[in-house]
Amino acid sequence: MALSKLQRTRLARVLNYEDARRLAKRTLPRGVFDYVDGGAEDEVTLRRNTEAFQELRFRPRMGIWVAEPAVSTTLFGQHVSFPVLTAPCGGMRLVHPQADVGVARAAASAGTIHVVSSASGFSLEEIAESSPDRHWFQLYRYRGRGGMENLVHRAKAAGYQAIVVTVDIQVGAKRERDWRNGFSYSMRVNVANALRLGPQLARRPFWLARYILDGMPFQLANTAGMTPDAVPMALPEMTSAGSHSPTWDDVAWVRQNFDGPVLVKGVLTAEDGRKALDMGCDGLVVSNHGGRQLDGAPATMDVLPEIVEAVGDQLEILADGGVRRGGDVLKALALGAKAVLLGRPYVWGLALGGQDGVAHMVEMVRTEMQRSMQLMGCSSIHDLDRSWLMPPGNALNRSGILPD
Ligand SMILES: Cc1cc2nc3c(=O)[nH]c(=O)nc-3n(C[C@H](O)[C@H](O)[C@H](O)COP(=O)(O)O)c2cc1C
Repeated sequence: MALSKLQRTRLARVLNYEDARRLAKRTLPRGVFDYVDGGAEDEVTLRRNTEAFQELRFRPRMGIWVAEPAVSTTLFGQHVSFPVLTAPCGGMRLVHPQADVGVARAAASAGTIHVVSSASGFSLEEIAESSPDRHWFQLYRYRGRGGMENLVHRAKAAGYQAIVVTVDIQVGAKRERDWRNGFSYSMRVNVANALRLGPQLARRPFWLARYILDGMPFQLANTAGMTPDAVPMALPEMTSAGSHSPTWDDVAWVRQNFDGPVLVKGVLTAEDGRKALDMGCDGLVVSNHGGRQLDGAPATMDVLPEIVEAVGDQLEILADGGVRRGGDVLKALALGAKAVLLGRPYVWGLALGGQDGVAHMVEMVRTEMQRSMQLMGCSSIHDLDRSWLMPPGNALNRSGILPD
């Protein structure tokens, strides 16, 4: 009881994503915070994702009173109360014991969808039960085709509405913060690890107590029945035999074996957008894995227009990477995305308050979105197009005020 009051007080202080990040940093051990917060190598792509959003400018229309901006939409015929889904994030049991179940419940009660990671902390069946009709499944390839097929069959049986095939983890990236911290979420509990991580953990006694009470879960729940070397992402070396992200051949297999919508996550070029279309996919997620894989990959907002132009009239296009504010959602929609996935901000919320913390962050994005629409004179997300954004480049140059 006292703890939940503390949680509520803490959440009340979270006015924006940066507050959540700062408090999450004080809550989580360094290794866990950095695992969530960090990216690959120099983190150029990680930073560029948010910069690209910040560089986009609205072209607001004045003198229009919008009482209730319309933000609901449908994705493959499924109604969502607003176009923000929660992104698949593995390792969440380290962040909070409620992990994916808390996230899925928060997303469902907000009227949206959680994309459940293959690397979830609870089994895909447990998560499906916690949020009926409101979950898609994100697919990795564990132990060759066999592990992947196992997950697809189970996702089908558990009633997942769509499969999102992530194609950008060919190998584990060089995430230097994780390497330095000696962190891996498939670590074993043993003396060596206890000695190595002890000092970080001792500084976060609340987290440690919570984690011990949760039974110190290190295992990826969905691979529990598979052989140990099937478990991927054993950072720093993720790849064990066959445990890399699916290839286009695997996408073709999924397409043949799953009746619902199939999306490819990790598309960054028009060419791959066309490929997804040729493979019979229904949608795609423009994503660079939140800057956690190939450093030097473009920001998603930099490439979204070319992908929309190539396949936007035939595929439902979603995007993620750097969505921090409700206004960012509007910018992605104006560039042609149908919806976005929220990543790190909800994970920081999870660290602070479990399901309530996720709900707090999701609701914050929704209210920011609606307020920005009122300030823009935009009554419906379905009206958003490029005319609501300044063309790229220096605005003063374009208006002829400054010489080129
Ligand atoms: C801690 C963490 C774990 C992630 N795990 C997965 C995963 O298991 N599968 C996946 O497809 N993407 C994963 N991602 C990438 C997210 O789905 C999403 O693409 C990314 O977080 C978006 O960037 P943003 O968090 O900066 O907005 C993960 C991201 C984070 C931060």
